[in-house]
Amino acid sequence: MTVTDVDTDWDALFQPWENNEGAVHPERDWTPWAHPGWLSWNEHAAEVQVADFLASLAREQSADTDEWVCLETGVGQGYITRRIVSAVNPSKIRGIWVFESDLEWSGRIRQLPFWPDNLHSCIKWEITPTPKQMQQADLVILDSKKPWRQIETMMWSEVGKEGSLLYVHDTGTLHPTRDGHFSNGFMIQQLGLEGLWLENPRGGFLAQKGSSEPKFKYKELWDRTLEQVYAFE
Ligand SMILES: C[S@@+](CC[C@H](N)C(=O)[O-])C[C@H]1O[C@@H](n2cnc3c(N)ncnc32)[C@H](O)[C@@H]1O
Repeated sequence: MTVTDVDTDWDALFQPWENNEGAVHPERDWTPWAHPGWLSWNEHAAEVQVADFLASLAREQSADTDEWVCLETGVGQGYITRRIVSAVNPSKIRGIWVFESDLEWSGRIRQLPFWPDNLHSCIKWEITPTPKQMQQADLVILDSKKPWRQIETMMWSEVGKEGSLLYVHDTGTLHPTRDGHFSNGFMIQQLGLEGLWLENPRGGFLAQKGSSEPKFKYKELWDRTLEQVYAFE
């Protein structure tokens, strides 16, 4: 069921876009095995530390180029998007291309005053990327609804740009087999993608095209994230 099949409270759904992200909660409220250091806003948003990690990845990677393209699917309530937009230097960006498969939702996101003028023309309002768009992206973040995330993972595997980074959210190999998390991870294994399985409660996978694992400086950012999480007692 898409969100727009039900009687949606759009005002509530869009509050995070309007300067009200809401309180953070222990991720344990949604993922029973999560260490108490992991936090989240709700069951749909990425973990707080994962959203922050992706923003630092974006900052680090975009600093090395003047034509940086980020492609993010499943933008939803935008917890990841907002952090990326505020982490990067606008003069370095060719595009932050966001995709939302729920078209009513994406139409509403488009109207938001949130988007800085210099980014407005960079935003795509399609369900899922085309292979041509995928080929141009330096950082690819996949958090879309079924079946798009797995199709997008396959697309990156086939046409992703050399050196580009891929992050797939909800990819726990330890999740029950009935969960989408498991099938996302299974798909990655079936494609033979090599990379890092991250230890966030919902599961994440980070890969770099053309290497068996992401560059050390990106792995270091993740190690720092884990240190902060586990410092919490
Ligand atoms: C896991 S959510 C994406 C969350 C997004 N990356 C973020 O950090 O805010 C994936 C998809 O689920 C749907 N979705 C997001 N929030 C939802 C909600 N509160 N209720 C129902 N569906 C939701 C949207 O279609 C969204 O693209």
